[in-house]
Amino acid sequence: MIRVEELSFKYTGAKEYSLKNINLKVKKGEFLGILGASGSGKSTLCLTFNGIIPHSIKGEFNGNVFVQGYNTKEASVAELSKLVGLVLQNPDSQLFNMTVEEEVAFSLENLGLDVEEIRRRVYWSLKITGLEGLENEFPPNLSGGQKQRLVIASVLAMKPQILVLDEPTSQLDPLGREQVLSLITLLNKEQSITIILVEHNTEYLFDFADRLIVLDKGELVMEGKPREVFEEAGFLRNLGIKIPTSVKIGAELKKKGLLERAALNDRELVDAIRTFLKG
Ligand SMILES: Nc1ncnc2c1ncn2[C@@H]1O[C@H](COP(=O)(O)OP(=O)(O)OP(=O)(O)O)[C@@H](O)[C@H]1O
Ligand SMILES: [Mg+2]
Repeated sequence: MIRVEELSFKYTGAKEYSLKNINLKVKKGEFLGILGASGSGKSTLCLTFNGIIPHSIKGEFNGNVFVQGYNTKEASVAELSKLVGLVLQNPDSQLFNMTVEEEVAFSLENLGLDVEEIRRRVYWSLKITGLEGLENEFPPNLSGGQKQRLVIASVLAMKPQILVLDEPTSQLDPLGREQVLSLITLLNKEQSITIILVEHNTEYLFDFADRLIVLDKGELVMEGKPREVFEEAGFLRNLGIKIPTSVKIGAELKKKGLLERAALNDRELVDAIRTFLKG
């Protein structure tokens, strides 16, 4: 689906490269989580997947990004947007129509689809994001979680196979966050949409991501299954990455020789504690 080869990028006017020699492959249907401290290059990497970098945001771009075989240097952002949907932090900056329905239809109107197909896609997108019944609402009146799901609906209406989400829940309250994260899981597991997610809720990534990559100062410094990555709790903490509470406790217990593995989720940690309380 995505192949990144020796990718380096420096913003115009910046001193340092924001991405350094990144190599990465993302398979069809995979759920990839991106971890890294502030400024490590997570957003910059996300912007290379649909060609915003290098087409709209300029700089020194070396290496290649291929999306479903297209080299992003050669394809346009409009073409790439049909393959890769991008969802950002702040839903307000991505909503500008008068009704929920128009918001979703808007992105489709330039695709040259017939009216029936547009109607079908709007209906499907609103249904899957749980927004049916709100077609005539004014988007600014929605809750934070509904707004972000509306952004996702309007991106999904383009039928992309890949969804890239850059901290989509960071401005939401706990309920909104929960709604958006369950939607992401559903899109990945039931619609087989490839997901690339930047998210600070590492508990969620632990449970649902297939693979994680860790960025540090523009470099890809670690890659693996969540369980492998979180086993290195000390390394992640030194990079300024939030570690699931169960893994923090697990790491302490491992240090004391009470556990063999630190990377446990809540349920596994409770089971482990029960076992040594019994023993
Ligand atoms: N438009 C820009 N012009 C110049 N430098 C930039 C620009 N955008 C980001 N940078 C720099 O690139 C580096 C990576 O930034 P990026 O926004 O990708 O990090 P991030 O991991 O997404 O951080 P955060 O967690 O704060 O969102 C930082 O050093 C940042 O200052
Ligand atoms: Mg960012």
